[in-house]
Amino acid sequence: MTDPVRIHAVPATIDSLATQTGRIALLVDSPDTLDLAARRVNKLTRGALARMLASDRFAKLKTGETMTLAYPAGMEAEAVDVVRLPRRADAVQSRKAGVALAKLKGKAALTVMAGNHRHAAELGMGLALRAYSYDAMKSAKDNGSAITLPGDVTLMVAKPDEVETALIPMRATVEGVFLTRDLISAPANVLTTTSFAEQLSSLRDLGVTVEVLEEAELEKLGMGSLLSVGHGSESPSKVVVMQWNGGAKEAAPLALVGKGVVFDTGGYSLKPAGGMEDMTMDMGGAGVVAGVMHTLARRKARANVVGLVGLVENMISGRATRPGDVVRSMKGDTIEVINTDAEGRLVLADVLWYAQDRFKPAGIVDLATLTGAIIIGLGHEKAGVFSNDDTLCNAVLKAAEAEGEGAWRMPLGAAYDAKLKSAIADMKNVGGRDAGAITAAQFLQRFIKDDMPWVHLDIAGVASVKEDTAYAPKGASGWGVITLNRLIADRFEG
Ligand code: BES
Ligand code: MN
Ligand code: ZN
Repeated sequence: MTDPVRIHAVPATIDSLATQTGRIALLVDSPDTLDLAARRVNKLTRGALARMLASDRFAKLKTGETMTLAYPAGMEAEAVDVVRLPRRADAVQSRKAGVALAKLKGKAALTVMAGNHRHAAELGMGLALRAYSYDAMKSAKDNGSAITLPGDVTLMVAKPDEVETALIPMRATVEGVFLTRDLISAPANVLTTTSFAEQLSSLRDLGVTVEVLEEAELEKLGMGSLLSVGHGSESPSKVVVMQWNGGAKEAAPLALVGKGVVFDTGGYSLKPAGGMEDMTMDMGGAGVVAGVMHTLARRKARANVVGLVGLVENMISGRATRPGDVVRSMKGDTIEVINTDAEGRLVLADVLWYAQDRFKPAGIVDLATLTGAIIIGLGHEKAGVFSNDDTLCNAVLKAAEAEGEGAWRMPLGAAYDAKLKSAIADMKNVGGRDAGAITAAQFLQRFIKDDMPWVHLDIAGVASVKEDTAYAPKGASGWGVITLNRLIADRFEG
């Protein structure tokens, strides 16, 4: 796994500012509210900092944006980076200021003069989240653009002990996010269903109970829907069950269910060649579930959570499912497979049913890179949120808002469900072009029991993005790990 940047808090002192090497970051609200460190830098640079802060460019600087005083005379630092941050900045603003600083950083060590800033740890978390790059496939490990090296970020703060304590669960979260990004970034010849299951098995080292259900077992369970997706692949389909039981013995768990299509060619309803390589991220939902389980175990969360992922590969061969085939789900309902590219819902149908059947969970959150239609609707800014339960849904939305991850509720309803009517089976697996993300969610809801609180997150637009996102460089974002970790911390712990 990519090493999360190690960030440490040390007692604030301005005595070393003149001789400190590397980069120095200052938090500045307005030119006339400089803290001790900024005033000292201004003095050392004979007013150069104040002149920069009096400039038009600084006046136009928005919260979380940066400006740099390079090679300041009177100091040994290679740069003084100023990030504009209100003194009363909230947690998300502070985290985003950390992201902005991480973007500036070259190889040099960074010392952040955070003084009394109340969200110094959040700022550190932002730095850590942004300092990621996927280098596993490169033979030369040093690619020059990597943002930082482990162990070289120092937060100088008034209360280092408090900040260190706050950083502990944040490191667990950053590790989870990095695990998710690594899994999503990995190509499909490396991350097969088998190697994915092996990686998940190593969560045992952290105290997670992991079971890998193989094809024979899935057949016995009657998971004809999930199995139909993997028929064309040489890689065996699997369901992996991960249990973290940190809560009360009798408390029903929260179930997290993830779509883990390690590669989606579309099957016989073949995708166009252009961009097909992106479908290496089609296991994004399962990747997020893995990241959350890692985080929960690393911070020893006092909650019962079970993560279930369906790992399959959607390929073509003489054994692959044909359009028109009818398959039987574990629930017992039959499905006419009109389009083999609508495979994620076929996988989730059986995993959702199994999750309810076996664990009687208190609620279910599923994550899936399910539809291109959600990207048309919401772009790459927000995940689509679908739910049959206002309480659980609002809790998810609130957690996403608090963590600065985009999410937007979409409707469900009988008229959409009616689009799934099949002439020869209990349902078909597509509902037409119109409202494609909603009819996909309706399909999933058919496998949710009536009183089961359920939230479906369509993360097709946010799981992997071709431009930088709020917390990540371009590529896999890890969207959802932070939000779900908070949901669990706020609603399912203690
Ligand atoms: N994995 C795709 C959805 C997707 C598209 C994810 C783009 C990420 C980026 C999914 O399996 C799929 O192919 N969905 C089809 C459904 C259609 C056939 C009803 C789609 O969205 O086109
Ligand atoms: Mn597909
Ligand atoms: Zn897919």
